[in-house]
Amino acid sequence: MLRSLFLFSMLLQLGPTQQQSAASPAPAATVPAIPAQAARMVNPVKPMAESMAHAKKVYGYDCAMCHGATGNGKGELVAELKLNLRDWTVPAALKDRTDGELSYIITHGQGQMPAEGDRAKPDDIWNMVVLVRGFAKP
Ligand code: HEC
Repeated sequence: MLRSLFLFSMLLQLGPTQQQSAASPAPAATVPAIPAQAARMVNPVKPMAESMAHAKKVYGYDCAMCHGATGNGKGELVAELKLNLRDWTVPAALKDRTDGELSYIITHGQGQMPAEGDRAKPDDIWNMVVLVRGFAKP
């Protein structure tokens, strides 16, 4: 545990340095750990009723306790973990993020957010990106 924590903090320190030496321009400054190639990825899934129902179910189990059932960023763990989450029901909340960035964050986690990648298939993650964006629609 200690060892992995140590490795994790090493990785955090390496992140920005690697980016500066990369040939391509860095993505949004707020998310320095996301590789440019991942940020540019286009969502490959077409949302279907069945896949969206699955995404919604997984969201209810794995995400709603932080991000809220409606995506408003007011889940039940927010107070305890002192989280400051974006309100996805506001259309502007995610306008600076690409689908690739959202997919990467869901897959690998970020800050206090745990990774979903070992529990979900890539297509399921992309469907969750569609779901997350959909919270802003009336
Ligand atoms: C323990 C609480 C927690 C859980 C559970 C959680 N998240 Fe997050 N999530 C966060 C936090 C905190 C951030 C902001 C991370 C940062 O910017 O450092 C975040 C950021 C994000 C982002 C990036 C956009 C934004 O608003 O910053 C997406 C997309 C996201 N989460 C989706 C999900 C999905 C989908 C799930 C379920 C598979 C999930 N999260 C589960 C806490 C959580």
